[in-house]
Amino acid sequence: MDGIKVLETEHSNIVDFTNVLRAMGIKAMNERVVEPEDFLKAVDFVRRYSDKQHHGKEEKILFRIMTEHLGPQAQRLIENGMMVEHDLARLYVSQIEECAFKIKEGADLTDDILLDVIGHTMEYANLLQRHAEKENTVLFPFGKRELSPELLEAVNRETEQFEEENAANREEMLGILSYLRNKYI
Ligand SMILES: [Fe+2]
Ligand SMILES: [Fe+2]
Repeated sequence: MDGIKVLETEHSNIVDFTNVLRAMGIKAMNERVVEPEDFLKAVDFVRRYSDKQHHGKEEKILFRIMTEHLGPQAQRLIENGMMVEHDLARLYVSQIEECAFKIKEGADLTDDILLDVIGHTMEYANLLQRHAEKENTVLFPFGKRELSPELLEAVNRETEQFEEENAANREEMLGILSYLRNKYI
């Protein structure tokens, strides 16, 4: 199993998901309708796929190995760039969740709440699109070029183990992605 390839495939699912979020935002804007359950499903996808399944593997496997073996340049790029963006994504998704809960509990869909739902959803979508692009074009090529064959093999082995242990979570989350894609796009 090619560990970096698995991360790139996940990026393409995550970018698909951000396009679904845009469609959910456009529907909320045009029709003034927010289905909180769908936004909570999106929050679940972010937490259990984009974060646990994907950022989890980046942080525990590829980033860890690059930081340990590729010196200060890799360390700066990862710690001051990628990890900061992972944390920002966690903040944005908590804000989406907070809005969805308010609406679920019966809050009126005021201009303020509508603006917050759409705004936080777009913050997350835009961040993740730029983040995935940076990793695909800068960080992953750097790792492929600079890591030794033995270290790339370690990435592959650990990725395979992670994927085996988290297969059920992955499949369940891809199910949420297709549900939301079919409904909104
Ligand atoms: Fe990342
Ligand atoms: Fe990533």
